[in-house]
Amino acid sequence: MEERKGFGTNFGFLMAAVGSAVGLGNIWGFPNKMGASGGFTFLIIYLILAVLCGFIVMVGELAIGRKTGKGAVAAYHALSKKFKWMGWMGILSAFFILFFYCALGGYCIKYVILNVGDLFGAGFGAEAVYAAAGDTSKSLGDVVFNTFVGSSGEAIIFGLIFVVITMLIVLGGIGGGIEKVCSVGMPALFVMLLICIVRACTLDGAVAGLKYMFVPGWAVENGIIAEAPDFLTVLSTAGGQMFFSLSLGMGAMITYGSYLHKKENLQKNALLIIIMDTMVALMAGLCVMPARFALDPAGNIGGPKLLFITMQNVFHSMGTLGPIFGILFYLLVVFAAISSSISLLEVIVAHFVDDARDAGKGDKRKPYSILAAIAAGVLCVLVCLDGLGENGIAPATLLNIEASGWSDCWLDFFDCVAEGILMPLGALLMCICIGWELGPQIVDDECCLEGNRFKSKAFFNVCVKYITPIIMILILAGQLDSFFGLGWFS
Ligand code: PFF
Repeated sequence: MEERKGFGTNFGFLMAAVGSAVGLGNIWGFPNKMGASGGFTFLIIYLILAVLCGFIVMVGELAIGRKTGKGAVAAYHALSKKFKWMGWMGILSAFFILFFYCALGGYCIKYVILNVGDLFGAGFGAEAVYAAAGDTSKSLGDVVFNTFVGSSGEAIIFGLIFVVITMLIVLGGIGGGIEKVCSVGMPALFVMLLICIVRACTLDGAVAGLKYMFVPGWAVENGIIAEAPDFLTVLSTAGGQMFFSLSLGMGAMITYGSYLHKKENLQKNALLIIIMDTMVALMAGLCVMPARFALDPAGNIGGPKLLFITMQNVFHSMGTLGPIFGILFYLLVVFAAISSSISLLEVIVAHFVDDARDAGKGDKRKPYSILAAIAAGVLCVLVCLDGLGENGIAPATLLNIEASGWSDCWLDFFDCVAEGILMPLGALLMCICIGWELGPQIVDDECCLEGNRFKSKAFFNVCVKYITPIIMILILAGQLDSFFGLGWFS
């Protein structure tokens, strides 16, 4: 039978796993949520949840993957009769996230090109697009963004380019594609981020951005948000953010874990992934928030519009050096998005490739990578056509209902189902599966292979049975509440 090839080095694995975790969520989600939910207080709550929940689910997923040596579907199938359908939930989540992630990844590529255009004073640059539109009543960022999303054809082309890049990397396999790209891309992202931070933090007025992020109560006192959220809301916001950001609850870490060598230390790797992801989220904040407060104080504070409208305004007002920082910034966002999207596609591809190999059909990575990319591409086209709800085909418009969190655009719809329901539910059920159905010993054993020690064994055992599931229920309720506006939390 064909051999199942894994990561060549632990560094390669780490970069791939961190690459999966570091993504768009770190850049537009974390800094804004931290600022709006109490600054340092939010950070502390986030870190506590990362230890009590993120670490437990991360170790659990890596262990399930490595023990079975299989993708999410076959891994649960091999371990539990009752939970054998769970892997399919992961595949569904991966598809749902890919639909909008690829569309946004395409936007990022377009923004690199817009800034290249500005650098050379070319007709395809953001400045030229703004001048051609002739509408000076709106900011450059607004006009350029509306022009781009309004021309669905262009958004589709860039979305599909992003899908094809993702597919080509996954086609190369774990060692040949994913590991190679992430081992270079992640350190490069880190350096680019450092350069952008230095520029952002030395701008006049940058300090307001730092205060927004770190000083509790500053956002309310300065009228950025109307009132401080209550404790439960902060808890569920931090939990939801942590979850999506760490790529948990949908089989990504099971899949990457399945390619990890038995001699590697799972506990150490899980901790490193969490530390690095949180560090990049904080660094993204140090880059985005000071720049936004210094150069576009009336701009958006979170979400895709922060990334594509406000940040483009920031580069516009930087003068001659603006396009260079624009290229650097959007390129680093492209890297972050690609290293996440390849892990999403790999969740799907690994399952079908393993299945074919087990059935003696040989290595089918190529056809399955292409098929999965086509499937992801089809609904990515829908998200691009929709243009964040600007083009009249949002779910609310089609169903003729009042627009709300899940229905005001297709991006939000797919995000609500994946991030709001499937991922937190997936993690909750995984804890129940390990804690109650299989018993935590299965993870303890996996962590102690080849002379490794599992120092947090007692902590893990208590958390996975009691503490993590309880917190997960709260996070799930918080996610359902915020995505579907149920009014459970004020
Ligand atoms: N962690 C990614 C982010 O923060 O943007 C999103 C993500 C990627 C979730 C990969 C799940 C996943 F499998």
